Amino acid sequence: MAKLKTAVLISERGSNMRELVAACNEPDFPAEVVLVLSNNPDAPGLEHAKEKGLAIHVIDQSGFPKRAEFDVVLDSVLRDHKVNLVCLAGFMRILSEDLVNKWRNRIINIHPSLLPSFKGLNTHARVLQSGVSFSGCTVHFVRPEMDEGPVIVQAVVPVHNGDTVKKLAARVLAAEHKAYPLALRLIAEGRVRLVVEKVKIDGALAPAGVVINPTEKS
Ligand code: GRF
Repeated sequence: MAKLKTAVLISERGSNMRELVAACNEPDFPAEVVLVLSNNPDAPGLEHAKEKGLAIHVIDQSGFPKRAEFDVVLDSVLRDHKVNLVCLAGFMRILSEDLVNKWRNRIINIHPSLLPSFKGLNTHARVLQSGVSFSGCTVHFVRPEMDEGPVIVQAVVPVHNGDTVKKLAARVLAAEHKAYPLALRLIAEGRVRLVVEKVKIDGALAPAGVVINPTEKS
């Protein structure tokens, strides 16, 4: 079966991009990375993509003060590469409503909290401040409102006494690196369905006492 042509959009470090690329390089993984795109020409993650011989495209956002103009170029680059699915992976730019609607259900994002809690920036500091016992990450379909959209995969991590932002961020990031490739695989396998803005996963196991949902089909 043809692999799902995936673009990964980054702005900085790109560790989630790295994990998605590694997953796609596994034999039988049902998706392939056809493009790594950044709005920041100095994104450190671009080096890794280069080393892996992937197609890279930079749309330097300093040349595009207007969101709509940036998004027109983004849309055409994605179409040039025949992209089926866009994975936002630390892409620090809000997309216009037009672009999101044009690519509806074909853009996914990862956020370092258990959405709908703790949308927005400085997530880990706010999690620590709030006193909750668990945090985690969420992979979701993108909608025009920031950090909104149907949840595909979530992974949970504990918040420890004496945690710092750095420690919690590292624990959540390790969970992100599992959750994002899982979400990509489920979509590429055609197992993710949207029913009235809620995700149903075909063939998911009952999530009894798990920290990642949906659990993988064995
Ligand atoms: C991750 O924590 C992701 O959830 C958030 O931005 C961070 C990006 O990290 N959206 P990286 O660039 O993938 O290492």
